[in-house]
Amino acid sequence: MIRFDVLTLFPRMFDDPLNESVLKRAQEQKRIEIVVHDIRDFGLGRHRIVDDTPFGGGGGMVMKPEPLVRAIESVKKPYPSARVVLLTPQGAPLDTDHVRRLAEYRHLVLVCGRYEGIDERVRGGFVDEEISIGDYVLTGGELAAMVLIDTVSRQIHGVLGHENAAHEDSFSEGLLEYPHYTKPRDFRGLRVPEVLMSGNHEEIKRWRRKESIRRTWLRRPDLLRRADLSREDLTAIAEWEQEGASCRETA
Ligand code: 6GU
Repeated sequence: MIRFDVLTLFPRMFDDPLNESVLKRAQEQKRIEIVVHDIRDFGLGRHRIVDDTPFGGGGGMVMKPEPLVRAIESVKKPYPSARVVLLTPQGAPLDTDHVRRLAEYRHLVLVCGRYEGIDERVRGGFVDEEISIGDYVLTGGELAAMVLIDTVSRQIHGVLGHENAAHEDSFSEGLLEYPHYTKPRDFRGLRVPEVLMSGNHEEIKRWRRKESIRRTWLRRPDLLRRADLSREDLTAIAEWEQEGASCRETA
């Protein structure tokens, strides 16, 4: 069981996406718990103010420190050891290693930034780590928090059925996944590779491994450098490298 407390100015954004399919079932089965809090409930004064203009001038608004810190303290009170994660494009890029590590915590507090940013003083003292989901800018941390909840949740025992458990998928071995096919055998003249219909499980396994390596070599050579490759894998790659451009065109 892992618990996520989300702090956001837009709690309704979380209503639907996390309540379908796998994550819906995971919540029903009490394998994960997601609680969304409105930062405005911790806003200042009658108008529950949460933002203000930046010192030093310039455009845009900055999230004030008091509401954010009060919200963090409020959700941490019953769970003092909760890990506080700020979603920001300035954070460390999220990857599988990161996700697995986060899945070890019992309790994550996800702080979603909005507007031009948050008051710098919230960082450091009140936040344990900062995470980004890629090199582009979102309108706020909410979608990033949902991505994090989704990917961390699927690492939790029992959330996925064991047929497609997390250790079976693409990035678990640092490679892209092999291609998948289902019926019909012939779709508008596009045929399923013969080997997959051969019933020869050893050969199928080898074909899938090779396709997985080939895809990764073609599309994400950066991942290959970190992957754990066999002699057979390396031989295949060496051949493709020799063939060069002609091979690239057909994959
Ligand atoms: Cl976590 N937040 C925002 N606003 N933009 C992002 C991001 C997070 N990660 C990538 N872009």
